[in-house]
Amino acid sequence: MGFSTVERTAPDALFTAVYRDLFEHAFPPEELDGEDVLAAALERGSANLFAVVDDAGTPVAAAFGEWSAASRVQLLTYLAVGPAARGGGIGGRLLRDAVNVWSVRRNPCIVVAEIEDPGAPAHDAHGDPRRRLAFYEAAGARVLDVPYFQPGIGGPDRRVHGMLLLVLHAAPEFTIGDAVAGAPLRAFVEEYLAEVEGAVGSDGNARALLDAFDRPGGVPAGKWRAQQ
Ligand SMILES: CC(C)(COP(=O)(O)OP(=O)(O)OC[C@H]1O[C@@H](n2cnc3c(N)ncnc32)[C@H](O)[C@@H]1OP(=O)(O)O)[C@@H](O)C(=O)NCCC(=O)NCCS
Repeated sequence: MGFSTVERTAPDALFTAVYRDLFEHAFPPEELDGEDVLAAALERGSANLFAVVDDAGTPVAAAFGEWSAASRVQLLTYLAVGPAARGGGIGGRLLRDAVNVWSVRRNPCIVVAEIEDPGAPAHDAHGDPRRRLAFYEAAGARVLDVPYFQPGIGGPDRRVHGMLLLVLHAAPEFTIGDAVAGAPLRAFVEEYLAEVEGAVGSDGNARALLDAFDRPGGVPAGKWRAQQ
């Protein structure tokens, strides 16, 4: 069976199939935004979807990304491969292709992704967090040394703690040795908090996260194990 990668910049039947048949199965509800929210991001022009489809046009893998023009940070919001196709290299190729397209299209930029802490328990449908981190590190991802949590969809009480923020690509302008410039990352997270939680909180966790972006010399980025 042959596969091809297609891109969508507006919601359509393929987007709906990706959301319902891939994303809803791959992510716990607290980590997945509503279908209407993703569709609205596509409509606004701030998001795009890459889908790997089989000969019948059925999506077997997909990457959804959102671009923050204000911070010049690209978020890989969701990446999922259907259970039957996992382990065959499709996810790795899709990840590299998506990051390459964004890097060229949005240059200069930082591309980030958020994943569960590998210390979290494995989940049958959602996958093993350790293997998932290994997957990203094999594609060149580095873990940013910040106390990251996923902003709460609907409010701060819905935050997902114990998450990692990964850097998948950083343009030379935003690279300081092994570190990544903190200012665009801070601007990105502030915008993200305001958008999904309704405001940038001043609670301890939000302050600790934002302060971590202000370190002189940038935000250290490296292998997860090195930070334990
Ligand atoms: C993580 C994921 C995108 C990888 O895609 P894939 O096509 O299976 O990956 P590839 O074949 O290119 O690479 C294989 C590597 O992916 C990782 N992987 C494969 N299946 C996995 C699973 N069920 N859970 C976690 N990681 C997995 C492993 O690191 C694997 O290497 P290994 O076999 O040496 O352990 C896919 O498994 C998936 O959709 N998981 C569920 C959703 C998810 O975790 N999304 C990422 C968070 S945004």
